[in-house]
Amino acid sequence: VNDSPVRVGLLGCGTVGSALLALLERQHDAISARTGLDIIVTKVAVRDLSRSRGLELPVDLFTDDAAAVVGDPDIDLIVEVMGGIDPARDLVRAALAGGKPVVTANKALLADHGAELFAAADSAGVDLLFEAAVAGGIPFIRPLRESLLGEPVRRVMGIMNGTTTSILTKMTEAGADYSEALAEAQALGYAEADPTADVGGFDAAAKIAIVASIAFGAEVTASMVDVEGITAVSADDIAFASRNGFVIKLLAVAERADVDGAEQLSAAVHPVLVPAHHPLASVRESFNAVFVEGDAVGELMFYGRGAGGDPTASAVLGDLIDAAVNLRRGAHASIGALAVAVLRPPAEASSAHYLSLVAVDRPGVLAAIASVLGDNSISIASMSQSAADSELGGALAADEARIDFVTHRTGRRNLEATLDVLRSLESVRRVGSVIRVLSEEEDER
Ligand SMILES: NC(=O)c1ccc[n+]([C@@H]2O[C@H](COP(=O)([O-])OP(=O)(O)OC[C@H]3O[C@@H](n4cnc5c(N)ncnc54)[C@H](OP(=O)(O)O)[C@@H]3O)[C@@H](O)[C@H]2O)c1
Repeated sequence: VNDSPVRVGLLGCGTVGSALLALLERQHDAISARTGLDIIVTKVAVRDLSRSRGLELPVDLFTDDAAAVVGDPDIDLIVEVMGGIDPARDLVRAALAGGKPVVTANKALLADHGAELFAAADSAGVDLLFEAAVAGGIPFIRPLRESLLGEPVRRVMGIMNGTTTSILTKMTEAGADYSEALAEAQALGYAEADPTADVGGFDAAAKIAIVASIAFGAEVTASMVDVEGITAVSADDIAFASRNGFVIKLLAVAERADVDGAEQLSAAVHPVLVPAHHPLASVRESFNAVFVEGDAVGELMFYGRGAGGDPTASAVLGDLIDAAVNLRRGAHASIGALAVAVLRPPAEASSAHYLSLVAVDRPGVLAAIASVLGDNSISIASMSQSAADSELGGALAADEARIDFVTHRTGRRNLEATLDVLRSLESVRRVGSVIRVLSEEEDER
């Protein structure tokens, strides 16, 4: 029995790092009673030593030399919550190479360099754990890599970005338009001053890249994900969705399909009309959820706080204890070697779609548009027309009508080509929104 403390070097003491220190202090004795481990943080690396962290800690705990913490022979384990690629990547590599297990919350790092770092951890025979990097406080990575290891996972759909969910919730429930909802999210601190990473879908893309890599055992990086954010979602789209039994969510989707006997993987982030009765439709405000569909297990949903200091620290602490237990036992977890991922080109994707067009309000126009769709083998599930003086007609001129379609499953390439034909019609003033609709019909997969 090794009764000596497990000495932890913490890289970063911002939102997550400071919450972790506070949580570990609160839970130290309980963890000790349950695991026999005495986990103590012996060094904390930050950028600015003069900054107050709201914690009562000895000054000599802190250093601005992160590399020295990683190289310190008196430190057993590294927790990286500084964020960014540089210098986090080199620090994590150095820690692993030095035989130190690493716990990280860094989605950007893992989404771009996960395969390299997992391999480095494997060859060093130590843990690299990252529960907090995807969906913050929701324990999802461990179920995915352990409990679901034998499961033929078909699809994972996540609402993994609280900022966009908050904005869409505001638009849905208060009738706000996109810019009002964004401004409010910024005022409340839910959205950054530069919200691009969130509203552009890039934060969710990094997370789904990590999820796809683990679910499918293939190296999917953030830049391989087909990304569309929420900036083009209008109040009219939201109103259409509400009236027709849908809720619009930004979904991150990793999918494995069998196409003519060959496995096809895809990873994408885009706004989706989710049927109001689907469990993901109930995810509001800053909550996150991950919905898994497997051949054997059926449907699963994981729900909780996807960000914030305390929820994220909870996930980091779980990993820290796990890594400390493994370290003492000389064991480590592994996600195995990742294959090279070949993803389906986005144009080859297919789904049901919602289309909104503005056309000249004159007899025969609706039929002409419907026949273009029909000629291109796009079958229509529902269709509605709104005049300028109707609830959905706010943005229309007096001689215009808005025509909304929901299609059955249709290939993206064919859809784009068909929209070009529609744009060329004299009677079509503009093609507005084109948003995917979540299909649950088994025979449509
Ligand atoms: N916040 C969340 O809700 C959340 C949720 C899930 C995952 N994460 C991930 O957790 C990580 C940390 O996020 P956070 O929100 O805690 O960030 P944060 O508040 O900005 O804190 C970053 C910390 O790292 C330190 N740091 C940055 N660069 C450094 C360097 N070169 N050398 C030494 N220290 C350095 C900073 O020092 P100073 O304090 O001196 O500036 C700060 O203490 C990120 O990877 C993030 O993606 C965060």
